Amino acid sequence: MERTGKAKVARHREMLAITADTGIFFSILLKAIKARRVLEIGTSVGFSTLWFADAIGKKGKMVTIEMDPLKVERARKNFSQAGVEKLIELKQGVALDILGTLKDKFDFVLLDADKENIINYFDLALPMVRAGGIIAADNMLFPPHYRPMMNKYARHVRSKRNVQSVTVPIGMGEEITIKLQD
Ligand SMILES: C[S@@+](CC[C@H](N)C(=O)[O-])C[C@H]1O[C@@H](n2cnc3c(N)ncnc32)[C@H](O)[C@@H]1O
Repeated sequence: MERTGKAKVARHREMLAITADTGIFFSILLKAIKARRVLEIGTSVGFSTLWFADAIGKKGKMVTIEMDPLKVERARKNFSQAGVEKLIELKQGVALDILGTLKDKFDFVLLDADKENIINYFDLALPMVRAGGIIAADNMLFPPHYRPMMNKYARHVRSKRNVQSVTVPIGMGEEITIKLQD
């Protein structure tokens, strides 16, 4: 409804979750690389987080970042209703601030917050990803007003020598970037 414009939602209240087929696609990717540790930038109310929690299983661990307190509250409820709250560390705050405090290594990272900072998020996340790990970015193809920023992001990512990257036309368009070596 948000995407078609049939429901009017204030910009800061939009949830704009990944699509269900993107959730399945990520789930397959996570299982293929045996991901146990996932970082997500942009939780909203936790739709994508729930796909990840399901894919990493009970031994997995997730960190997800969201700055909107109302969305954080709803996400916490959703995680607890799904019985996966123990796997998920939900950090409330501005992503750039929180990323600077993280010491962990991750197998998979989703960049799905403000697009203005997406290149900064990628540069901060890349050293935190193990060789063979993946960084995904949502909204490469839709909505159209993100295109200039996402094209710039694709050029930036593809200029790095230790990654391989492709835009997959599923859902809103996903950039899938594998880190080849440290
Ligand atoms: C597209 S939504 C995330 C959707 C979610 N990944 C899903 O698929 O279910 C983007 C979220 O990022 C949050 N956000 C935007 N800029 C942020 C920032 N600088 N720091 C933390 N969160 C931010 C927004 O509040 C919004 O809830």
